[in-house]
Amino acid sequence: MCGIVGYIGTKDAYPILVKGLKRLEYRGYDSAGIALLHDGNLNVHKCKGKVADLETFSENKNLSGSVGIGHTRWATHGPPNDVNAHPHMSGDGQLSLIHNGIIENYDVIKENLISRGHIFESDTDTEVLVHFIEEIHAQEKGDLFDAVRIALNEVHGAYAIVMVDMNNPREVIVAKNSSPLVIGLGENEYFIASDATPIVEYTKNVIYLEDGEIARLNLDTGIKLKTVRNEDKKPYVQELEMQLEALEKGGYDHFMLKEIFEQPRSIQDCMRGRISSAKGEIMLGGIKDHIEEMANADRIIIVACGTSWHAGLVGEYLFEDLARIPVEVEYASEFRYRNPVITENDVVIAVSQSGETADTLAAIKMAKGAGATIIGICNVVGSSISRETHAGSYTHAGPEIGVASTKAFTAQVTVLTQMALLLGKHKKTINSARYSRLLVEIEAIPEKVEIALKSDALIEQIAEIYKDATNALYLGRGYNFPVALEGALKLKEISYIHAEGYPAAEMKHGPIALIDEEMPVFVIATNDASYEKVVSNIQEVKARKGKVVAIVTKGDRTVKNLADHVIEIPHTDDALVPLLATIPLQLLSYHIAVMRGCNVDQPRNLAKSVTVE
Ligand code: AGP
Repeated sequence: MCGIVGYIGTKDAYPILVKGLKRLEYRGYDSAGIALLHDGNLNVHKCKGKVADLETFSENKNLSGSVGIGHTRWATHGPPNDVNAHPHMSGDGQLSLIHNGIIENYDVIKENLISRGHIFESDTDTEVLVHFIEEIHAQEKGDLFDAVRIALNEVHGAYAIVMVDMNNPREVIVAKNSSPLVIGLGENEYFIASDATPIVEYTKNVIYLEDGEIARLNLDTGIKLKTVRNEDKKPYVQELEMQLEALEKGGYDHFMLKEIFEQPRSIQDCMRGRISSAKGEIMLGGIKDHIEEMANADRIIIVACGTSWHAGLVGEYLFEDLARIPVEVEYASEFRYRNPVITENDVVIAVSQSGETADTLAAIKMAKGAGATIIGICNVVGSSISRETHAGSYTHAGPEIGVASTKAFTAQVTVLTQMALLLGKHKKTINSARYSRLLVEIEAIPEKVEIALKSDALIEQIAEIYKDATNALYLGRGYNFPVALEGALKLKEISYIHAEGYPAAEMKHGPIALIDEEMPVFVIATNDASYEKVVSNIQEVKARKGKVVAIVTKGDRTVKNLADHVIEIPHTDDALVPLLATIPLQLLSYHIAVMRGCNVDQPRNLAKSVTVE
């Protein structure tokens, strides 16, 4: 997720662009840049770092101009550095473009352009796009607006782009597909941004571009809106009602809630360009050179902390079930100090949202020193952990602002699922019928998460009943045991209620002594291999007057007659249930924390990234 801004009008563009980028830094902050059109020149200033670093970098440079674009990057292709920072230029230096999204087929386009003599400076898909537009414009010799439209018909993937042309300082071209883009309408001026936060202080009149739309914003001829299929569209202007602070959270009360509701998109982005059920393929480019090592490893050791450790535990079930590879899941803080036995036949997978967790970084440095192959699953491109690994796959969940990890967890599980499926197919340890079914099922997960999110109102009612509990128990079996642990952590860390996750069968080995009418028990009782046993566990709790809130598969009747409350999620393959069962538990902990007046986005004593021991 990156932040894009643009301005064309009568004011100085630079201060508007910089202020706008600062409002969008929550969307990404590993590099930033601007391009300003002035006196027939295109002046581009860009560097690694935050927007404040760009301001320092731009001091004493030519910052004149009333037309410009700006970008704050969340790297997807190519590490964060000066060269990969946006804006990117066409080969002839006439065009400058900024982009938020992922062009999935950029490599094929890039090869073709190189064969035509194009030379690239960066590793980004964005630079390929602006060269592609330049090439089409040169071939078609027509209107640049048309060249952009034709190019966008050829690319696959997500984009929100803003482009300026040195030869036409009265016009800016914008387009959108999957990634957001808003146009603000001022007096003989236009504001462009990824969301309305950089715009709302200048104008309340906005146009939210729809997917597949492209527009030219011309100071003389006004707005021309089309679809990339060349159909004319009438711009729909609406008046902004939200205030700035609400806009930054996308209209949600907290970043955590916004990020919970972002999960259909973030899971989709985690699969984008990687899964094709039609072709029966999974492509994880980041680990393609290490498939043999992973498939033939004596052991896969997954090291992580906190929520990422819970994702790793789901990974253990996935790798052993689908790829028949022995797996150990280690708390990084323990692993690094217990003098473990590690050989060069081991593969260590580090799971980390921030990519900066000190214990996880130290653990993989130790394992690397012992000769193991290190694979990373991180959310921050170019982070310390990702740079320490031999290879890896990014989760592409976008910046996660809430301290309590939500979309990063489901993104990590999505990557682990893809890795396990890829290895299972490679080793022929998964039958083709289940492999094909799982590919179809995982592609349907974003839509099923949308359905799971629709229980939010019911979950809020249940939260009201249990918000004053002093303890809670979370139970799950099989793939859902790690989900029980994750649900308990969510409740603990944002509502400060003590909660424990347990394998459901473990209850009779002690925890059942805790059950009484004051103890809410949250049970994941989906219709999977261990369903009958979990039903028995629920009966044990009810026999001791415990209160049971059960996560069930839609249409369940048995548990509905036993539990005090049921929350339904759509049916899916056992291996994919964690991606759905975790949603109601995230919402439950969120609503209980809000009702208890807790600081949901910054819980006490916690940091988003634990970069110290
Ligand atoms: C989970 O909600 C917490 N934010 C915390 O447990 C976190 O998962 C842990 O600190 C690991 O962080 P990482 O994924 O950035 O390595």
